[in-house]
This record gives sequence, structure tokens and C-alpha cells, in this order.
Amino acid sequence: MTTKVTVYGAGNVGATAVQRVVEKGLGDVMLIDIVEGMPQGKALDMMQAGSIEGYAHTVTGSNDINDVAGSDLVIITAGLARKPGMSRSDLLAKNAAIVGGIASAIKEHAPNATVIVVTNPLDIMTYLVQKVTGFGKQRVFGMAGVLDTSRMRAFIGMELSIPGKDVECMVLGGHGDTMVPLKSSIQVNGQPLGDRISADRLAAIVERTQKGGGEIVALLKTGSAYYAPSAAVVEMAQSVLRNEKKVLPGCALLEGEYGYNGIFLGVPIRLGKDGMEGIVQMDLTDEEKAMLDNSANAVKEDIAILEDILAKQ
Ligand code: NAI
Ligand code: 2OP
Repeated sequence: MTTKVTVYGAGNVGATAVQRVVEKGLGDVMLIDIVEGMPQGKALDMMQAGSIEGYAHTVTGSNDINDVAGSDLVIITAGLARKPGMSRSDLLAKNAAIVGGIASAIKEHAPNATVIVVTNPLDIMTYLVQKVTGFGKQRVFGMAGVLDTSRMRAFIGMELSIPGKDVECMVLGGHGDTMVPLKSSIQVNGQPLGDRISADRLAAIVERTQKGGGEIVALLKTGSAYYAPSAAVVEMAQSVLRNEKKVLPGCALLEGEYGYNGIFLGVPIRLGKDGMEGIVQMDLTDEEKAMLDNSANAVKEDIAILEDILAKQ
């Protein structure tokens, strides 16, 4: 049977992710958005692109939240971006309403699906999806670390005048200013970084990584990044759908790992046919562990805001 992938949100990240899914031949796609005609139009456009690109998978557009039925894998990108004057908790409340409704539809119509969350605030929306669906932690996780790591890899590559693909490293923690770029994890062509970049330059790269999303928003002015985010979520989806067992940074439910309980946080996770098949424990320096504690506390504060909103409903 053909694999079915549903993508909620036919905006920048969602539509670009769909393009990558069909170009990689990962499955047939259902693209769902509330804007009438828009997902249908983008789906038709991508069906026509298939004649040139040579892919056989179908893309179908829909405005019906329940068309997720029968999906093997679901990607949630639906939601609003923060607008001027909107507080973080206003955004959290609005996106919680959207993502909570989507999670209920997934629970009812696609009870066997694996769900990858992208909508911000990422760690909290992933927590919400797991809470609403009641799915096991293997089947609900979020994308942020692959993106944040792609930024750090690119910045190190730019510093050394080499491609980002030749750099390996890991960014853990929540998806925000408190994220934890692990300097100790950097490898270039499989070798430790050593002293190829000065401490000052490396500190600047860490800070640029932490503010990487904002740098692109400031340049684009009308939206946020989507080429790297879509590539990141599709790398995670591919590892699940093709049972690649890649270890990637992802937002997962922690039950004692790294010393935290009951929160979703970015850690290295193994992705295969059963979804999030394991959490990899890395050795962290004291500085990195303190940064991770700080990030976990920020996520805990946002979970408290979400729980407050849910209690008032
Ligand atoms: P966008 O504004 O281009 O697209 C969002 C789409 O969601 C819109 O087309 C909108 O009509 C749709 N939508 C709203 N309510 C819906 C509902 N109830 N059902 C279905 N669709 C609905 O935004 P973009 O750039 O695609 O970003 C999407 C989300 O992903 C945002 O929350 C953004 O902050 C987040 N993001 C997260 C990243 C991460 O690393 N986790 C990276 C990049 C973006
Ligand atoms: C980013 O980091 C907006 O979360 C998004 O680009």
C-alpha cells in the first residue's frame, strides 16, 4: 500500500515540505489548510511539476481537517506567526487552539500515525499534541534541532570556507534563545574542530545560531525561514518512512533522560519505522549542562502558561 503523508498548513514551510516529500518519493501527500482553494491550487501545481521532475506520487489539497484519515505520517505546520503587539502567550493561546483541534482530528481519524510538529512555540505545541492525542512518545516529536544545527553547521562552514555538509555538530534544548549549541560536538570532515576557529569567533557563531530564526525574519520582513525548516522536517520524516535509524536532534518527551521529567526538549533521538525509537545520552560539559537546565526551565514556564490556558477552557 502507498504511504500517506498529511501536511497541515499549506504556507511556506508546509508547501515546501510537500515539494520535498514528493521529489524524494516518500509517499502520496494530503495538504490541508483553512484557506479555501489554496491547498488545492498548490497541490495541482505540484502534480503538474511531477510531469517534469518525474515523480509519481500524488498531492491532493483539502480544507477538511479530517482528510488526515489513513495517514502513516503527519506533519503539523499550521498556525500563526507572531505579529507586532502580540505577546508570546497570545501566540501560544492562538496556536494551541489551532494545533489542539488538529491533534483531536488526528487522534480520531489517523490513530496509527506518527506526528512531527513544526508549529511554534515548538516544544509547547509538541507537548500539546502528545497530550491531546494520547499517543506514545515514540509517535509524537517535534522538529527544531535539525534546523538549529543546520544553521550552526552553515556558519562554521562559512567561517572555514567549506560546505556546511562537511560539518557535524548538535544543538540541543528548546527552540528559542536558550537553545544549546554544543561546541564540544563540532567535527569537520570527521575530525574534531581543534583550534581552527578562535574562541571569540566560535562564541559569535553560537550566538548567531541562537538568534538564527530572528536574523532571517529581519531580512525577509514578511515571514520566517522555510527552506531549511522544510528540509529539516523532511529529513526526520524520511528517517522514519525509510527506517534509516538516523540520530538527529529532535524535541522528545523526557522521562528521566538528561535529568528531566515530563517535558518536551531537544535531545538526540533515533528515528526509524517505529518513530522515535530511542533517546541518545551525550556527555555534556558543565557549561553545556547548565545551559540545558536553563533551557528546560524556559520550556517548563511555557508549559505552565499552556496548562493555565487549558484549565480556563
Ligand atoms: P505560514 O503563515 O506561511 O503558513 C501557515 C499556514 O497555516 C497558513 O497557510 C494558514 O492558513 C495555515 N493555517 C492556519 N490555521 C490552520 C488550521 N486550523 N488548519 C490548517 N491550516 C491552518 O507560516 P510558515 O512559515 O509555514 O510557518 C508555519 C509554522 O511553523 C509557524 O508557527 C512557524 O513559526 C513555525 N516554524 C517552526 C520552525 C521550527 O523549527 N519548529 C521553523 C519554521 C517555522
Ligand atoms: C525559525 O527558527 C521561525 O522557528 C522559526 O526560523
